[in-house]
Amino acid sequence: MGHYNLIKLNATRSTNDKVKMLIKSKKISPGDIVWAEYQYKGRGQYNNNWNSSRGKNLLVSLYKEFRELTPKQSSYINFVISLSVIDTIEYYISSDNYIKWPNDILSAQKKISGILIENNFKGDKFNNSIIGIGINVNQTRFKNIVNATSIKLITNKENRIEEVLDKLIKNIGYYIKILRVKDFDNIMGLYNSRLYGRDYCKFLINDKTFEGKVIDVNPSGSINLKINGLGINKYESNTVKILI
Ligand code: BTN
Repeated sequence: MGHYNLIKLNATRSTNDKVKMLIKSKKISPGDIVWAEYQYKGRGQYNNNWNSSRGKNLLVSLYKEFRELTPKQSSYINFVISLSVIDTIEYYISSDNYIKWPNDILSAQKKISGILIENNFKGDKFNNSIIGIGINVNQTRFKNIVNATSIKLITNKENRIEEVLDKLIKNIGYYIKILRVKDFDNIMGLYNSRLYGRDYCKFLINDKTFEGKVIDVNPSGSINLKINGLGINKYESNTVKILI
């Protein structure tokens, strides 16, 4: 991925917040990475918390610039990051890994990784992204979290967090190259081929459960779902939740 600084912290509020602060104080450059052993207030999607035992998992945020992308194309950042994470997990766990739209990676039908991307726009121009990634590596007990798993829970093996980070960074470098040359169709095809729920899954819409299947994700980031009794329709990520 070229030259970058790796900012290693014992503990911080949230690695995404740390990147934000470092941008403000001009102490971080595009490409730099913040990695922490522990977060006091790790954040997930929709104002959720992201809890992780000290030193057990990978907690990292990347600061990236995408001058060549328009705001409309920003969903491709999510696509390439999801692909990078699933490939990283696949190195340790050979099968049953899926991308659960919009932001989760599943292994054996449980959540093994979460992604929190915060994009910043300057007017109608795309400016930069803070890409936060949590991968459960060595944690085996998840208090008060249902449906969570880790590499260790599935393989029975401990791994060095640093090694997982190294593989992740290489994969991100690989996929971001594809993004920078704007091979959008290729990215979309790869992303759609790894989606969870293409045969069958359950959804939650307005607190009601439905059955059906995932058709595919659109370049804008919305999803086409076939819901039994309702046919095929397009949904935005704030209106539907895929259940595991
Ligand atoms: C989700 O599943 O809702 C997204 C979880 C994202 C967690 C990662 S851990 C590193 C980075 N810092 C944060 O506070 N969140 C992300």
